[in-house]
Amino acid sequence: MKLFISEGNPHCLKVLAALEEAGVQCDVQFVNHEENLVPFLSRPSLPALLLPNGQHLFSPNAICRYMFEVSGQECSEACDQWLEWEATDLQPALLQALHMAVLQGKELEATKVLAGPLSYLDQSLTKANTPYLTGDVVSVADLVVCAALHPILSAPSLASGDHKSVRLWFDRVAVSQSCVSASHKVLQGKGLQAMKSFMHRQPAPQSGQCRGSTHPCNSSPAEDEERERVVSEEEMEAAAITWNKDFNVSAAATERLHPILPQEGKRNILLTSALPYVNNVPHLGNIIGCVLSADVFSRYSRLRGWNSLFVCGTDEYGTATENKAREEGLTPQQICDKYHAIHASIYEWFQIDFDFFGRTTTEKQTEIAQNIFWRLHENGFLMEDVVEQLRCEQCQRFLADRFVEGICPHCNYPDARGDQCDKCGRLINAVELKAPHCKVCRQTPVIRSSKHLFLDLPKLEGQLEQWLNKSTSSGDWTANAKQITRSWLRDGLKPRCITRDLRWGTPVPHPDFQEKVFYVWFDAPIGYVSITANYTDEWEQWWKNPGQVEMYNFMAKDNVPFHSVVFPCSLLGAQDNYTLVNHLIATEYLNYEDTKFSKSRGIGVFGDMAKDTGIPSDVWRFYLLYVRPEGQDSAFSWADMALKNNSELLNNLGNFINRAGMFVSKFFDGCVPAMELLQEDKKLLALVGWELQQYIQLMDKVKIRDALKHILNISRHGNQYIQVNEPWKKIKGGDAERQRAGTVTGVSINVACLLSVMLLPYMPAMSQIIRDQLNAPYSCVSAMLHGSGAFTRVLDAGHRIGTVSPLFQKLEAEQIEALKKRFGGQQPEDETPNKKPQTATQNAASPQSAATLPSPVIEVNAGADPEKARQLTQAVAEQGEKVRALKAQKADKATIMAEVSKLLELKKQLALAEGTSPEPTPVKGKKK
Ligand code: 2FM
Ligand code: ZN
Repeated sequence: MKLFISEGNPHCLKVLAALEEAGVQCDVQFVNHEENLVPFLSRPSLPALLLPNGQHLFSPNAICRYMFEVSGQECSEACDQWLEWEATDLQPALLQALHMAVLQGKELEATKVLAGPLSYLDQSLTKANTPYLTGDVVSVADLVVCAALHPILSAPSLASGDHKSVRLWFDRVAVSQSCVSASHKVLQGKGLQAMKSFMHRQPAPQSGQCRGSTHPCNSSPAEDEERERVVSEEEMEAAAITWNKDFNVSAAATERLHPILPQEGKRNILLTSALPYVNNVPHLGNIIGCVLSADVFSRYSRLRGWNSLFVCGTDEYGTATENKAREEGLTPQQICDKYHAIHASIYEWFQIDFDFFGRTTTEKQTEIAQNIFWRLHENGFLMEDVVEQLRCEQCQRFLADRFVEGICPHCNYPDARGDQCDKCGRLINAVELKAPHCKVCRQTPVIRSSKHLFLDLPKLEGQLEQWLNKSTSSGDWTANAKQITRSWLRDGLKPRCITRDLRWGTPVPHPDFQEKVFYVWFDAPIGYVSITANYTDEWEQWWKNPGQVEMYNFMAKDNVPFHSVVFPCSLLGAQDNYTLVNHLIATEYLNYEDTKFSKSRGIGVFGDMAKDTGIPSDVWRFYLLYVRPEGQDSAFSWADMALKNNSELLNNLGNFINRAGMFVSKFFDGCVPAMELLQEDKKLLALVGWELQQYIQLMDKVKIRDALKHILNISRHGNQYIQVNEPWKKIKGGDAERQRAGTVTGVSINVACLLSVMLLPYMPAMSQIIRDQLNAPYSCVSAMLHGSGAFTRVLDAGHRIGTVSPLFQKLEAEQIEALKKRFGGQQPEDETPNKKPQTATQNAASPQSAATLPSPVIEVNAGADPEKARQLTQAVAEQGEKVRALKAQKADKATIMAEVSKLLELKKQLALAEGTSPEPTPVKGKKK
């Protein structure tokens, strides 16, 4: 085998590292960048591997994978997924970042370009909680990703203090002999500068190359549509036939009659969106992840003529509510009442059209949760165990894992949390922490034993897997939902504690556990059932009817395991023929302007603030759906929102509909003119019909963001059609020309009507305004989207339209600047920050952890110095060790105190280097 590489080529770093790590025998030859070694390629491609059979491998990742396989190390599925991510998501951003940093000296911009992929990597590492990407040992995925990031992460000017887990992981992998030696050979100790000559030869990356992690890289639909589709004669004829079909008025949807119950012969859909925690005001990320996505699908499902029920409500139990109550001097119930109303009004403003919006603190919840509990008990799926827990006598409560800190029992890192160590990445059982202290009052807690109940997941695993195989293959599960679920099952399930020593929760009915309540994640999903029961006494028709009902669950990805593993196990174990999820729809995370939403720093837009911006609810919905984190993280950006409003809504969609309407009013006295189709009209019908088909196919699969682009494509086609046919000129011509103007106007107004229908799930108010302007009956709505969908002439010649007026307003640069300033982080500290951008518990990825509380989050500020912080972390650990040794030797007090004050000083410096305040802020209960 022979490996050809070139100096300063970043792709060669990874193959060399893989070669050394795998220990494979291979000739390595440095060649010139321009050398074309793969005979059938028209351009040089390095690295290239010449195989013994004379064939070449020239994809860097395939070469790395091959090296590992030759050495007998199979590439796991997870490993392949990382390789895929590296090639499709990371590389485009990386090349753009390198281009900026190496050739343009734009280092700040370069780091911004990488923010999305790095956040993704960081979140994955944090969640997986393993030292390496795919487990406890280095895999080819680690080498590939680490080597790809190597030039950036080891450049002092580009390394940032963010992405702690990435940093820890990188430090672990990059010090390996194979990485060090590969970097030495390829970069020759010259860092980024070594790549100059290579980068010069690369085509300048287009901003649209990055797949979406941050807004500057998103390609617009206009760019996507540059190449026009070729339409065949047959397509045009078929489109014209459809256009002339009588539409089916009887299919018109009527008012919803409550209670909605499953109906024989219909597609019956039960739709849930994750129940938002009551103690938080939801931010835009929460809104798009759950209620807004579910609302769009719910509205769409009604347009399709499906019989659907959409339920949601607030998730009200748990420590976080207790804490909030303490903070605000109210009772937990008062907190729930107050915030439930806040949530309800926010969702009302966002036009979330729940069929029922309930809550979890109800009698029905107690009744149904206790019933499921007893069923599990009777069926032998619960077990008891004694758990040692830390209790703070001063605070009078058991300390959930993230409320306790101490020294890591594995690596002696002094600031390990009760569930894991940020330094060595290992999971920790809180009672094993050395020198633990309560994070709220800093007292030393005591160990108390307490008997708890566990859901016997191992006993249910077989049934669960059988059901999962069926559900994931027949239903629509997003890729992240499948992947997260698989990773939970990979290592085998462990029993999961479902009780807590708390007061604010559903009481455990078992006499031996009288003082306890259910763990929120056992309790909350049962909320879907009890909320439905509060909506209708016939709730079992939805919930115990898997043969007739299809269930869709919407959530952000951190909620996945509870919906795909824990809750289904509770329901399977209850053996009561419960309806289980068929389609699990999970979003990735939405960031705010390349950072995270943070209540405490006043960063980001929260649900209650959106209406104060003066921007209509529909425009908020549109933009959030346009950047919906579908498949990858994305970012909300003010500048981008203004751009999309002005270009897509105002200039494209609004302009088309308004022109079509104005032509009818001005040239035809408000009545739709007669139409006689020519080939070019039929071509438009075919183009529009094709976009409609794409829209339906994508929406049926809940690809909400992707489907939206097809609506905008239709108005783009429409604008072009008007532009080419110039009805405003033809109307002044002779009969034939006036006839043409009429046909173009009539076709256009029907396209506008179709647009109003397709828009309905996204912008319900605007859809109604358009239909009012067109005076279009509701029956046209169902006509176009029932069955396989059809673009038919619903506004026939003679139809009188309403009053036409402009639909959208421009967002001005000054207005946007002002909003950006207002929401960009100028507000005073008031609460503990939300570290995670989205919803939910912090322990979603660690199935065995009993943690229910978030750690007090330490905010990173601009003064951070990561290099210094690394050195200081080491120094703190060593000094801590010294102090402990002195104590163990019972050295004299003065000596110990002297070393302790050194330790404290080091910690202070460390905090500064990390850009955090030296004293951690106490948790005020942001989340459960
Ligand atoms: O992450 C959250 O906001 C949780 N309150 C979601 C609960 S979903 C369901 F299980 F209730
Ligand atoms: Zn305490």
